[in-house]
Amino acid sequence: MHICFIVAMQAEAQPFIDMFAVSEVKDFFAPLPCKLYSTEMQGHTLDVVLNGQQHGTDLVGCEAAAVTTMAAIQQRKPDLIINSGTCGAFEANGAKIGEVYVGNAVMFHDRRVPGDDAWGTQALGNYPLSDRSAEIAEMLHCRMGKVTTGSSLDMQPCDLEIIQANQGQLKDMEAAAIAFVASLYHTPILLLKSVTDLCDNGAETYEVFRRNLAMASQAIGDANRKVVNYLFGLKSEC
Ligand code: ADE
Repeated sequence: MHICFIVAMQAEAQPFIDMFAVSEVKDFFAPLPCKLYSTEMQGHTLDVVLNGQQHGTDLVGCEAAAVTTMAAIQQRKPDLIINSGTCGAFEANGAKIGEVYVGNAVMFHDRRVPGDDAWGTQALGNYPLSDRSAEIAEMLHCRMGKVTTGSSLDMQPCDLEIIQANQGQLKDMEAAAIAFVASLYHTPILLLKSVTDLCDNGAETYEVFRRNLAMASQAIGDANRKVVNYLFGLKSEC
């Protein structure tokens, strides 16, 4: 089996890269900024693909995520894409900082396109996810939630309106863009997210995100390790 993790930030991926000692394949995607880390494990392939950097910062958001996913699928041809990363969540749903979730649906929350139902449907996305998502959540003993994606870390009232109208639970900046590209190639995709901040408790999002990033990245790394061992049929190799 060939699994390809798509991760936005190096800090989100590093604990997991270290756990499996996955090594970088330099300039694999040149001239694109995305970075490939790859290893072979008992006949299986594990890739971790990062968006790379611009202006000295890790690329986040939908455009970079779409480019990275397209390059990864075209050049690596994985059996499964896993988007692993951090997200915001809602205290009102009982979410906790550091909690790991598996996505059970994914859509955009900041695409306001007036028009008939077909335009509205396209704008929101609602892309298919791997039919193994529920099995993975059960294995991890974690909750599932609907991921909604937008281009901003903050949340404007018009974003919240769409999130609430669609029962969104986890807010991120990449998942729907990655799922969109995966759907075009008919590549199954799984979403694994850990919570850095709560969007509805009045705290300053960036400050809380920054403070909790290392802890949430460790939590998602631990979950990723279990998922890889489970899907590759390894007895806790790592
Ligand atoms: N990633 C981590 N926290 C986030 C939030 N509140 N919104 C979007 N992406 C995030």
